[in-house]
Amino acid sequence: MIVTNYLIIGSGVAGLTFAIKIAERFPDRKITIITKANEDESNTKYAQGGIAIVTDETEDSYQKHIDDTLICGDGLCDIEVVKMVITEGPKRLKELIAWGAKFDKTDKGNFDLGKEGGHSQNRVIHHKDQTGYEIERAILEQVHQKENITVLNHYFALDLITQNNYCFGAYALHERTKEVIAFQSDFTILATGGIGHLYGHTTNPVIATGDGIAMAFRANATIKDMEFIQFHPTALYDSSAGSKFLISEAVRGFGAYLRTQKGHRFMMDYDERGELASRDIVSQSIDLELKKSGNDCVYLDCTHLDLDAFMKHFPMIYERCKSVGIDIAKDWIPVVPAQHYLCGGVSVDKNGKTSIKNLFACGECSQTGLHGANRLASNSLLEALVYSDKIYEYLIPISIENNPFKGKLLDWNFAKKPEVQPDYLAKMKTELQLLMRQNAGIVRYEAELPKAKKQLLIWKNEIEDISKTHQISVALYELLNMITIGSLIVQHSIDRKDNRGGFMKVNAL
Ligand code: FAD
Ligand code: SIN
Repeated sequence: MIVTNYLIIGSGVAGLTFAIKIAERFPDRKITIITKANEDESNTKYAQGGIAIVTDETEDSYQKHIDDTLICGDGLCDIEVVKMVITEGPKRLKELIAWGAKFDKTDKGNFDLGKEGGHSQNRVIHHKDQTGYEIERAILEQVHQKENITVLNHYFALDLITQNNYCFGAYALHERTKEVIAFQSDFTILATGGIGHLYGHTTNPVIATGDGIAMAFRANATIKDMEFIQFHPTALYDSSAGSKFLISEAVRGFGAYLRTQKGHRFMMDYDERGELASRDIVSQSIDLELKKSGNDCVYLDCTHLDLDAFMKHFPMIYERCKSVGIDIAKDWIPVVPAQHYLCGGVSVDKNGKTSIKNLFACGECSQTGLHGANRLASNSLLEALVYSDKIYEYLIPISIENNPFKGKLLDWNFAKKPEVQPDYLAKMKTELQLLMRQNAGIVRYEAELPKAKKQLLIWKNEIEDISKTHQISVALYELLNMITIGSLIVQHSIDRKDNRGGFMKVNAL
């Protein structure tokens, strides 16, 4: 058993920024971060557009950012949370800059503010089109300087250790030694990110399998808003399965047009904001256009834009397009919607507390009330920064309780059991991803959801039985977690009676 004061599961922006602050405040306390891949692998690392923060109050205001967030959330945001997150943005930005993160400036020395869908103003702080990479780099550097933080790479958290609604830490599988280790902690922070790989076609990296939410669900934590899956309108189209390269919404903010194969600028038919309508509306409109035309993709036209300025702002997107034979000065970029973000998750209060004592959740795995039925672009890095600070502030006066787990630790007994065939797991994962795309995508069908629920239950029982008789592995647990998340999404989709934001359910095919 490893004993620690703060156990942080996940090394994206949510987990790392909490770790830096608590480590600095309490140099004599022990902070342990476990993460399932290399420490920098996360959704954070791939964030492109930037962070939505009001920095220039001549044109913009907190109220405008609050209104944009509320409109986007389609009546389901928690207004107090929205106000709190938006007004704290500038303080959290200052900290990021103090930790060494660099953001683009204009010649006059002001922040170069980008624009994205649903924003009435330019307010997105960014580092070219690699904002997440820059943030992750800077905060990891800070983490490495703290002697009381230990980062354990390739430790896969399996389940929380709980008793009487009290969290005492978590079990984690060390991928190399195949040993299951119990981490006992005074406070546990879930910062495990998103769920993209449940859909296969996603902008998320392969680590995004909803593990933290599934663990919290098994421990009886309250989970909310799982029906609100955000599909990004413009992932680079290719016919393969798996992660999709994102063409940032900031490209549309820069002036790019969406066109059908025949060249029609269709977004004007759906919303007066055109290409800069909120993400739910743009994705739903593309979905409709594709169903009407039978085409595989629509196109992003950048040919009228200033090429030099484009290359300066979006060097990664430019290079990626070039590498697959697309010259953005002449060619339209083929794009499709892809799963991008989960608005729901482990329900937390304004201090990041879950319904389980001493268990906190932060970042994409949490549901705070900020996003409602649809997240406003570039509000998620902001949410993670504000809530990691809230958890930190809440925990400052709370003393270490020295209250060890008195129950019997689970015996994972992994060595004596046979391994599950990787092909079997891979096949079920592919079938699961197809089921989610067909039944829990941009448009869901009333009659199909109960059938999907039934199939998910069959798979859940099958995998649970297998996990009792076979060696525990990352692939096995990820599959179990993805099936659990799929069941939550489908159940919450059945339960929701009205169409809001990113959720659309219709009667017939
Ligand atoms: P993550 O950054 O995903 O970190 C999760 C961590 O948990 C990872 O380290 C992972 O390895 C670890 N983990 C997961 N499961 C386990 C387990 N079982 N055991 C141990 N460790 C585990 N948002 C914006 O605001 N602006 C943007 O411009 C933007 N662009 C984006 C572009 C892309 C391509 C993507 C994918 C997302 C984008 N987002 C953007 C969303 C944003 O990046 C994420 O919501 C945010 O970074 C999530 O941070 P996080 O710390 O909660 O999770
Ligand atoms: C993007 O750059 O389009 C992603 C922004 C986000 O997800 O907030």
